[in-house]
Amino acid sequence: MCGITGYIGTEPAGRIVHQGLKNLEYRGYDSAGIALAGETVSVYKTEGEVDELPVPAQNDVACGIGHTRWSTHGEPTETNAHPHTDCSGDVAVVHNGIIENYEELKAALRDQHIFKSDTDTEVIPHLIENHLADDVSLLTAVQRTTAQLEGSFAIAVTAAGHDGVVVAREDSPLLVGHGENATFIGSDATAFIEHTDQVTYLESGDIARLTREDIEIYNAGEPVTREIETLEWDAEAAGKSGYEHYMLKEIHEQPRALRQAISGRIDELATSVDLDIDLPAEYLRSIEEIQIVACGTSYHAGLYAKELLEAHAGVRVTVHIASEYEFGGDRDPWRTMVVAITQSGETADTLSALRNAKRAGARTLAVTNTLGSTVTRDADDTVFIRAGPEIGVAATKTFVSQVATATLLTVHLGQVRQSITSQTTTELLESLRDLPGAVQQILDREATIKDAAETYADSESFFYIGRQAGYPVALESALKLKEISYDHAEGFAAGELKHGPLALVTPETPVIALLTNASAAEKTLNNVNEVESRGAPVIGVTSDPAATSHVDTTFDIPECGPLEPVVANVALQLFAYYVADAKDRAIDKPRNLAKSVTVE
Ligand code: F6R
Repeated sequence: MCGITGYIGTEPAGRIVHQGLKNLEYRGYDSAGIALAGETVSVYKTEGEVDELPVPAQNDVACGIGHTRWSTHGEPTETNAHPHTDCSGDVAVVHNGIIENYEELKAALRDQHIFKSDTDTEVIPHLIENHLADDVSLLTAVQRTTAQLEGSFAIAVTAAGHDGVVVAREDSPLLVGHGENATFIGSDATAFIEHTDQVTYLESGDIARLTREDIEIYNAGEPVTREIETLEWDAEAAGKSGYEHYMLKEIHEQPRALRQAISGRIDELATSVDLDIDLPAEYLRSIEEIQIVACGTSYHAGLYAKELLEAHAGVRVTVHIASEYEFGGDRDPWRTMVVAITQSGETADTLSALRNAKRAGARTLAVTNTLGSTVTRDADDTVFIRAGPEIGVAATKTFVSQVATATLLTVHLGQVRQSITSQTTTELLESLRDLPGAVQQILDREATIKDAAETYADSESFFYIGRQAGYPVALESALKLKEISYDHAEGFAAGELKHGPLALVTPETPVIALLTNASAAEKTLNNVNEVESRGAPVIGVTSDPAATSHVDTTFDIPECGPLEPVVANVALQLFAYYVADAKDRAIDKPRNLAKSVTVE
């Protein structure tokens, strides 16, 4: 989704803002631009990649803002790319989010202002232009402007002859980085991560005036102070460390991510967990239902969590695609806990579902990877999955870390609700402890998976089947393949094939079967027979040597107790990666997709 960066310092801003845009590329975008502001404002734009945007080297002003655009209103053209300017060209604005009342505002401005683009954003510089005509400061002009806007936004504004940059945040995330003699702006910290780890997260309603050594923040017209926090992620963690793609690097980081997810959270004897959340035991005992809201990969982690929670925490769990969610029916909000799973913590659909549940009076818990993200501010409680920065658009390490965290939550709830036996507790926690090692063994077998991927890469349609915990992994593995290879891929509950999809199975459609522990492998083998008799080649993912004779290709995985399907998932991430690589796809930036989906 759109990204914002900015710099106010002593160095020429063009190069630094350009690099900020490069850092933000992972979010997904279709056009980009920079505005540099001194005595005049210069704007540089491209319809295409940041690399095609010239670094404005001849311009040595030390203040600039930049934007990567993921189009919502108006085509991805150079004209629609940000920054947008007012009629004089003296005010430049970059914007993430949506201005819901822009048509109304544009209609009112149209007589006196010339609009160039089809975007909702362009009303902002024209409104600022109007207010500046009253001879007020840029800060006041932006305050008056934001009071006229409805919707969600993060904006950064520069104007000729005005010192510094004014930023404003309403829902969409925005943070400020504090360097030596320099101030940075980012829609997320990757925008400036190589320059500083000292950040201030702006809150909704904040408007701030930034100069190179100062930050003044106002909310509802009153000055406010916000803490300076230290980022836990560093530039090296956010870089590619020699891997060809972030996705491959992140697949390889999974043993470490899993260790981090569980570190300090399981006691030595694997008998209890400490999640460091403030959910009173009495409340946890009173819950009748957990509703999980999430999108995409996080939704699949939610389906996996349901398997665990219903089996061991003695609670009914419903999993909702966030964009379809509404708290309702006869549910008692006091006895319903709503859990939002979101790696970015910024997914608009998930945030909207969470807010809907809050309005109904339900207690909410966020499961996220991102410190300071909007979900952590909106939810009553938060558990971090501690996967470290994930840059590749296709989620990998955050999925396994979400499932690991859901396992810890299951044990915690099960113990508080006295619905888990000590034997199951130990089985789950030992499986969790074995997971990093088991995943490492898969990574060590990467070459075999790569060979298989190259063998099957010409197929245009792939089916994934699984049962129980194998079912969400089938869905997730299919999603991974389709988003990065652009091949058709679908995941099914194995038993459902014969109720319709079997009609699509031919010798040209490989079927990938999850034949692991915790996924009723013996039953799935019946479905393997069904597809084999229609001529489909079958890849079996299994730790059971006996299953090998039933399939054409085996992805051997190590035994790993009840969480074995997570290990299978890692093998299938590699499979998806190498199928896409064989087709030379833009793996880290798949077409039409964005890392952080901040519109509904
Ligand atoms: C797929 C993928 C997406 C995200 C989804 C939700 O690989 O990454 O499906 O899982 O957009 O994102 P978060 O977890 O940030 O809410």
